[in-house]
Amino acid sequence: MRCASCGFANPPEFKFCGQCGKTLAIAADAAERRQLTVMFCDLVGSTELAQRLDPEDWREVLRSYQAACEKVAQQFDGHIAQYLGDGILIYFGYPHAHEDDARRAAHAGLGIVQEIQRLRAHWQQHGNIRLAVRVGIHTGLVVIGEVGGVEKHEHLALGHTPNIAARLQSLAAPDTVVISAITHQLVQGYFVCENLGTPTLKGVDQPLEIYRVQQETGALSRLEVARKLTPLVGRQQELAELLAYWQQAINGAGQIVLLSGEAGIGKSRLRREFDERRSESAHEYLRCRCSPYHQQSGVFYPLINMLEQHLKLTRADSAETKLGKIERLLASHNMALPETVPLFAGLLAVPLNARYVARNFRLDLHKQKIREAVLSLVLAMAARQPVCLVIDDLHWVDEATLEMLGELIPQVPATRLFGLFSFRPAFQPPWNHFSHVREMRLEPLRRDETAQMIKNIVGGKALPAELLAQLISKTDGMPLFVEELTKAVLESGRLKEQPGGYELMDALPIPATLYDSLMARLDRLATAREVAGLAATIGREFDYDLLHAVSPLDEAALQSELQRLLDAGLLYQEGEKYVFKHALIRDAAYHSLLKSKRQEYHQQIAQALATQFLETVASDPGLVTYHQTAV
Ligand SMILES: Nc1ncnc2c1ncn2[C@@H]1O[C@H](COP(=O)(O)OP(=O)(O)OP(=O)(O)O)[C@@H](O)[C@H]1O
Ligand SMILES: [Mg+2]
Repeated sequence: MRCASCGFANPPEFKFCGQCGKTLAIAADAAERRQLTVMFCDLVGSTELAQRLDPEDWREVLRSYQAACEKVAQQFDGHIAQYLGDGILIYFGYPHAHEDDARRAAHAGLGIVQEIQRLRAHWQQHGNIRLAVRVGIHTGLVVIGEVGGVEKHEHLALGHTPNIAARLQSLAAPDTVVISAITHQLVQGYFVCENLGTPTLKGVDQPLEIYRVQQETGALSRLEVARKLTPLVGRQQELAELLAYWQQAINGAGQIVLLSGEAGIGKSRLRREFDERRSESAHEYLRCRCSPYHQQSGVFYPLINMLEQHLKLTRADSAETKLGKIERLLASHNMALPETVPLFAGLLAVPLNARYVARNFRLDLHKQKIREAVLSLVLAMAARQPVCLVIDDLHWVDEATLEMLGELIPQVPATRLFGLFSFRPAFQPPWNHFSHVREMRLEPLRRDETAQMIKNIVGGKALPAELLAQLISKTDGMPLFVEELTKAVLESGRLKEQPGGYELMDALPIPATLYDSLMARLDRLATAREVAGLAATIGREFDYDLLHAVSPLDEAALQSELQRLLDAGLLYQEGEKYVFKHALIRDAAYHSLLKSKRQEYHQQIAQALATQFLETVASDPGLVTYHQTAV
């Protein structure tokens, strides 16, 4: 049985996963609906190669290609679902969703092409074999679950999505990555893409717009790729506080602000507004961005990224030009060049010239030297003029950078440094006990602010009051949800444009742009997802007693799963009731259930209500019928 949590294939008799230890029982045959990004890779000219080569040599070629693809897929947490001859089917978003699955797939696509080009050089020398690969990627709804019989069974995604990915792959030119319009919508701005028109695909009714992924743009956050920002609402108090702390730092009393809040609440936006209003007087601006792709392996990634920007290093720069830029920066802060240039050059992967000798330190000592050097540089900058040090998304920071920050923070009060560090609540900063370290937690927008934001997005036209109310309650004051849901409603064709206003024709959808991040939060729950699905079928609010009456779990197990949901911040308690913190998370949990499962749950709930919860039914007579007829 494959573990729903980590994907490891366990022998049938296992009750717990041999890889991650999670319970397998609940996951048994847990088919579900979900949005998935599917990649299909294929070797070019494999039939000809298989014919020409001795089978043993062909096997070796094939294995090297498969190993290369697997390595890249793993790097982006893609899941190899199937090998089909020389074709490889890879899922991004299963068994674990990530908020950026489409981007991960595009990164992996480019990575695979690069790896195959590297392999080509090898195989060209050994047997005159010219390897090339085609990659197709598509995102869409699938049902994923176990298929096959007793002899052989696999977890596979069913639906049209994998077929389309395979068709796109067949359209790709050798060594290129082709994506569909929906995947393109999810990666737009993060990659340079070329529109390849709207070919008709075999077996696909509608012509599909397709794109070729060319290269990364280097953008790491949605604000960097936003073409137009919706006008800021609220946050005036927070902005005023940030500007006041900045002023204190300018006056010589360094400050750090720890800005925390859920994904999409507006941390980056607040930082951006602060950047625009910060005093014009001379100061140094240093910006570090942490990246989910470089948390484990990318030692000092945020610092490298910051230095590259600060030094304006470009791909076109020669090694000598880059070295010159490093030398000038360090010399201007009176740092000892023979010791520090090799360290910075090493960090930035710039080759040294004959003037410098790289010292071979032990790894830990080498890291320490880098920390000391970067720290000295930052402090030297702050000695000369105020420094604004911004660190975005600390929840993805690597250990080495974190250590450096730990060394910097105690020294801040005596400097003119202002640090604005942002992160999601999962990160727990170890520095809050310092009096110069302030915590600022962003709260959801107020209802009137949300309404204003919706109006700004819609433009001049009035929305029906009912739809406005629905949007406000579905988005819970989360600016990201407000933007995406309002835009999805506008673009979905579900609104009929009338003179002077809109009329809603259908229920509110979950936008494709939010789907992965909502699912990512549910996937972290492992077994508690089952309870979340059942609870979501009752509704956004539910009574413990009713849940208990319909749940197959015993009291202790149910309590512990609910505690998990509370700890993960997906639920909160209000008196006797539990409430899904975000309506959209409830919707995602509900819609990930198979239709058949949903119906089964609704029937059980209707029956429990009708027999055991007469008071509830008396106060809400339509409830039983709702569950009896829900589909
Ligand atoms: N106060 C606001 N007024 C108008 N728009 C806002 C406001 N706050 C955030 N937004 C918009 O909402 C979206 C999400 O905000 P932002 O990217 O800043 O969230 P975040 O907290 O940085 O999330 P993450 O943790 O994922 O980085 C952005 O498009 C942003 O422009
Ligand atoms: Mg952000």
